[in-house]
Amino acid sequence: KQQQVETLMRLAPVIPVVIIDDARAAVPMARALVAGGIPTIEVTLRTSAALDAIRAIAAEVEGAVVGCGTALTARDLAAAQQAGARFAVSPGTSPRLLDAADDSELPLLPGVATASEAMALLERGYRHLKFFPAVPAGGHKLLGAWASPLPQIRFCPTGGISLSSAPDFLALPNVLCVGGSWLTPADKLASGDWTGIELLAREAAGLR
Ligand code: 3PG
Repeated sequence: KQQQVETLMRLAPVIPVVIIDDARAAVPMARALVAGGIPTIEVTLRTSAALDAIRAIAAEVEGAVVGCGTALTARDLAAAQQAGARFAVSPGTSPRLLDAADDSELPLLPGVATASEAMALLERGYRHLKFFPAVPAGGHKLLGAWASPLPQIRFCPTGGISLSSAPDFLALPNVLCVGGSWLTPADKLASGDWTGIELLAREAAGLR
């Protein structure tokens, strides 16, 4: 599973974090992201449309690797997998979520904000972690400071990152990609501005 996570973290420099209110937007949005060079898509389980969106993208969008974000419980992992998610992302961890992830086929990218949390996950076999919330928690300086004492871990920092701040994170030796919601802004999703989303994806894909 760690190898699967590494592979999807290397597909593109940015994993878009999507908050989707209308599942009908899922397929054209995902097609626009893929066309712009961004195949890995995290749909957060924060809206009632999320599972339908994951199901539609998994079934209909060639080249997309869709996963769920905001996985908090065993039930979230099961529902996302059943909808066709290929991975799950969580903002933090709990012992019960980690036990459920052990029993699930879905690879989990769990979030940490401290070295102690990272060490606890390392003990459980995780070498690929989300650093969340990246900017409020200390930004690229904090993450860079973990590279020497925790060299085994590769991160996807997420939270407060933009096109202009992403390069600071991507330059770190312990960062494989960043996450961010800026590629799929609510106004573009609502108005169906797929060309605009493709453009944002292309800019993001060019970061590396
Ligand atoms: C989130 O929690 O929504 C993600 O971490 C994305 O954060 P962002 O909106 O700051 O990119």
